[in-house]
Amino acid sequence: MANFLSLKNFSKSKIEQILETAFSIEKNPKMLENKYISKILTLAFFEPSTRTKLSFTASAYKLGLKVLDYSPNFSSQKKGESISDTLKILMGYSDIMVIRHPDENIFQNVSFSCPIINAGNGIDEHPTQALIDLYTIKKEFGKIDGLNILMVGDLKNGRTIHSLLLALSNFDVSISLFCPKQLSLDKQFFSKIKEKINITYSSSINLKNIDVLYMTRIQYERFKNKKPKGLEKSYSLNLNLLKHAKKNMIILHPLPRLSELPIQIDNTTHAKYFEQAKNGIPLRAAVLDYCLSN
Ligand code: NCD
Repeated sequence: MANFLSLKNFSKSKIEQILETAFSIEKNPKMLENKYISKILTLAFFEPSTRTKLSFTASAYKLGLKVLDYSPNFSSQKKGESISDTLKILMGYSDIMVIRHPDENIFQNVSFSCPIINAGNGIDEHPTQALIDLYTIKKEFGKIDGLNILMVGDLKNGRTIHSLLLALSNFDVSISLFCPKQLSLDKQFFSKIKEKINITYSSSINLKNIDVLYMTRIQYERFKNKKPKGLEKSYSLNLNLLKHAKKNMIILHPLPRLSELPIQIDNTTHAKYFEQAKNGIPLRAAVLDYCLSN
């Protein structure tokens, strides 16, 4: 049994192993059918979710898992129960758990009695989303090495950005970054990534030579005091900008989107974000299998 909490120190060969399983599941959806028929998966989401929660549920059903869906708003959390007590109880009911929580340190503060998958810990990481992103890139290009990737948006607070950069730092890729100034990556984090791959800030959204454009929304819920308004307007995509793109450039977005990604883009051949969301099914099934079988 293995946890899947972070892509820090998660080896390239393990990443490739999970991607390969996901490709096999997609090719042969019955491959792992009912493999875990007697096991229980508990979803413990302390923050909103659409794609992550429901694609984990759908993947779990494909593997035969039974799913418990814990709702903090209708639980003893409302009576003042501590998070560590709640998680301890839930682990006692579960063979595996998927947890999303606003606290970055949530996994340091609990002891585990079943495998845990991180579905987002505050602004820190969202490792399964990063593997979906890699899977989508590999599906489109047949490879990850050699690609030029531009990442745009809330680099400071976007946990999908952090996990994707950690995952990509295992590959031979070139990364450029564009964001509103106050939403740059943490300097230490940037330096750590820079030790491993070619990564630089760009002064505009320059799509020349870009293979993958990774857009993200502003994480407004992370602003504690004054929430800025309309920050994404400074980097919104439009059809004109896309005129400079390579024909086979793909646009990814973990979703949900705000106005940085107007719906007009959906009709272009570059738009791959709905496929990306769909890829969550084989990929999360592969992650569940990885955790339950290792
Ligand atoms: C992301 C998240 O929760 O971090 N959503 C997702 O899982 N696809 C991205 C976001 O909320 O912006």
